[in-house]
Amino acid sequence: MSRKDEIKSAYKSLGNAHGFYDGMMTGTTLPGRMILKGVWRMTRKDALEYQAGAFEAIPADFKGKLLEVPVGTGVLSMPVWKTLPEAEITCLDYSEKMMASARSRAAEMGISNVAFRQGDVGALPFADESFDAVVSLNGFHAFPDKEAAYRETYRVLKPGGIFCGCFYVKGCNAHTDKRIRQFYIKRGFFTEPFETLESLRTRLEGLYGEAKVYNVQSIAVFQCRK
Ligand SMILES: C[S@@+](CC[C@H](N)C(=O)[O-])C[C@H]1O[C@@H](n2cnc3c(N)ncnc32)[C@H](O)[C@@H]1O
Repeated sequence: MSRKDEIKSAYKSLGNAHGFYDGMMTGTTLPGRMILKGVWRMTRKDALEYQAGAFEAIPADFKGKLLEVPVGTGVLSMPVWKTLPEAEITCLDYSEKMMASARSRAAEMGISNVAFRQGDVGALPFADESFDAVVSLNGFHAFPDKEAAYRETYRVLKPGGIFCGCFYVKGCNAHTDKRIRQFYIKRGFFTEPFETLESLRTRLEGLYGEAKVYNVQSIAVFQCRK
């Protein structure tokens, strides 16, 4: 089984996600499926494709120190963290409220190797080169100071460490770009400036050397190594 397929099958441990946010991220509720299609032009299969791609660079036998930022409610990451019992995982988010859901999800799923910490990605409370992997799902389109976020995620990563994840990029789908401007920016969920697929590739190659960058509709998936 490929690493992507392993991750997709890990999502089966999630069951049906409840709550508006979780349903939207997983497409497992009717409003969630409507948003996936109406805003993102995605099916549940497309969403699984980008989500599995975002974690693909983390090997199935990963045992090192891993930082996830931002964890949000943990709906996309906890099923994968459950499959890495020997990893030492730290999950960070600015919002205690979002993280409270992630904490209860981890407890319900019996995951004990994850620590939670409130903080700002732009000023990470960790020493230089302290993680073997940094994973960031759907964060960079929300972070207010993206330059600081790129700088900090790079700083805390060990040489040879993996940086991977996904987020919204503009210019892949005009319909989605319009909906993002209409709803997500106005409500403060997303913050400009946004990357394009090309600007992201150029930025990551500049920082990390080689970078694998591709898109599923308007979500860019990236994998690189420091
Ligand atoms: C769209 S959610 C993504 C959460 C999760 N990774 C997911 O894919 O479901 C964006 C998250 O970024 C967090 N966030 C925004 N600005 C942040 C910052 N400066 N530092 C840390 N987290 C931040 C928000 O609190 C929110 O939980």
